[in-house]
Amino acid sequence: MSEHRRIAVVVNGTPYEAEVETRKYLAEFLREDLSLVGTHIGCEHGVCGTCTVLMNGVSVRSCLVLAVQANGAEVMTVEGLATDGQMHPLQEAFREKQGLQCGYCTPGMLVRAYELLEENPEPTAEWVREGLANNLCRCTGYQYIVEAVLAAAERLRGSSVAEGQPFEPATSSRTNQEA
Ligand code: FES
Ligand code: FES
Repeated sequence: MSEHRRIAVVVNGTPYEAEVETRKYLAEFLREDLSLVGTHIGCEHGVCGTCTVLMNGVSVRSCLVLAVQANGAEVMTVEGLATDGQMHPLQEAFREKQGLQCGYCTPGMLVRAYELLEENPEPTAEWVREGLANNLCRCTGYQYIVEAVLAAAERLRGSSVAEGQPFEPATSSRTNQEA
């Protein structure tokens, strides 16, 4: 008989409580229980990165994290990028720069790119490439994805200057984290 636990998790700012099977993965919980199907499932063993979400601000492979491990956490999925129906600058840039073709890798790419720009608002192309190295894309050849992330970074810097927000320079760099 399968075991169940009650969990409480905040996803994209909305609190949820649910009874979940202890063996259920976070990706399945997001898709099946919360209908947040933006998070894709590809390899199901932590390699492709399409299932990437942020958990407490850090990217994880939601195909490797159990839903019960997210108990008490704040999760951000690709659906959390847009605000009030307005696409995030990363989403706009991916569309404009053709940073996607089939789109299967795109949710994970966007979430990981969001994390990268949170970490370093003034990235170089090389830094972006390194940061996205563990997110696999079979279509684009990556060049347009890198260009899109750089374009979004520029746009975000422009908007923070326009809004009078202080600019905080990058303090660290790292490669993708795996759960
Ligand atoms: S589905 Fe490929 S890393 Fe999770
Ligand atoms: S756009 Fe098809 S896998 Fe990346």
